[in-house]
Amino acid sequence: MISQKEFSRRRNQLMRMMGKDSIAIIPTATQQIRNRDVEYPFRPDSDFYYLTGLHEPDAIAVLIPKRPHGEYLLFCNERDPEMETWTGRRVGTAGAIEEFNADDAFPIGDVDEILPGLMESCERVFYTMGSRPAFDRRVMEWVNRLREGARTGLRTPDKFVSLEHLLHDMRLYKSRSEIRVMRAAAKVACRAHRRAMQACRPGLHEYQVEAELLHEFHSADMEPAYPSIVGGGANGCVLHYTENSAELNDGDLLLIDAGSEYDCYASDVTRTFPVNGHFSAAQKALYEVVLAAQTAAIKKVRPGNNWNAPHAAAVRVLTRGLIKLGLLKGKPAELIKKEAYRRFYMHRTGHWLGMDVHDVGDYKVGGAWRDLEPGMVLTVEPGLYIPAGSRGVAKKWWNIGIRIEDDVLVTKDDPDVLSKAVPRTVAEIEALMAKGATDQL
Ligand code: GLY
Ligand code: MN
Ligand code: MN
Repeated sequence: MISQKEFSRRRNQLMRMMGKDSIAIIPTATQQIRNRDVEYPFRPDSDFYYLTGLHEPDAIAVLIPKRPHGEYLLFCNERDPEMETWTGRRVGTAGAIEEFNADDAFPIGDVDEILPGLMESCERVFYTMGSRPAFDRRVMEWVNRLREGARTGLRTPDKFVSLEHLLHDMRLYKSRSEIRVMRAAAKVACRAHRRAMQACRPGLHEYQVEAELLHEFHSADMEPAYPSIVGGGANGCVLHYTENSAELNDGDLLLIDAGSEYDCYASDVTRTFPVNGHFSAAQKALYEVVLAAQTAAIKKVRPGNNWNAPHAAAVRVLTRGLIKLGLLKGKPAELIKKEAYRRFYMHRTGHWLGMDVHDVGDYKVGGAWRDLEPGMVLTVEPGLYIPAGSRGVAKKWWNIGIRIEDDVLVTKDDPDVLSKAVPRTVAEIEALMAKGATDQL
């Protein structure tokens, strides 16, 4: 878990960058209705949680650097024994100060009355516009109210600055404790993938394999970081397949893309393996190409290379492999230039990983790919997808969808694969599945 000391360090770092005469307004997520009286499980907004560690809806963090009466203010639900009987414990304003180190805290219902006054003496408002239309309107109302008052001589903030710029750059570089949490999430994801491999057999349904994943996630008090993708055969060629409803057939591959979330940090892991425990010759041939692409891409995850280096390496290996297997015809350099591989490999090789699965942080700086630096975490996830009916493609390749995805930390030396505890090679996968089959007897 991330300590309160670290949350405080993050706030101070952000406030140093904001400078004097500015205010940051960071609301958390709102409770979402699933149907009638049923709500979705609550998940805090990542930016809000990154700065507060508070896991409650209806809260707003406010940072005002150098404010003499307190720089860090929290608006939250007041304690209410009757409500808490129904919906569970709240920290309340006293808890916000004692447990979450706010300099001052106010009931959320008082925000319209208090917040405009706090903005009054500031020149710049750091706020992320555009992701919550209802809250955007309230912020504008507060500013307009101040502007009306301006005629009577009050100062008003005259600049809106996107908070993302500063905050998302901070989030891109993971601290030691963030890496510890991400390693824990990846470890449980690996355990889940191993369990799925061992439980898999023809005749099961995709949702039954998903249940094996959930068993490991929930046994470790973790949630899925995103809806698990469990796609057998043709479904493995659907990149965001989440129905997970089909029966698993002897002779097909199964693609599982599933990661757990721990303390609001994600893991994101994909493995592809044969439903019956043995790769066919065609499956193995394509799998070896994707595996070689992933190995080459992971090797590029080191300082001195830029963000695009792993993708470029993967594309080179995939293109050569596709030529060798007769799936592409031509010279590697020309095919890469024409992006001929995109027919079978239509996504990029990865993304930043952190509190959000597709985490924040710019991929380009000043128009050029960003350099990789220690502390950054990214996924490396090449794949090949050949749906049935692919024109000009021999039938033996149809319905093969393969992706291999790992979570990789950039260090000053070799890449650190956080999710390495799950088989990746053909031999390792077949051995683990054979063990699973024996255990089932
Ligand atoms: N699970 C989403 C992704 O791999 O990007
Ligand atoms: Mn994934
Ligand atoms: Mn991913």
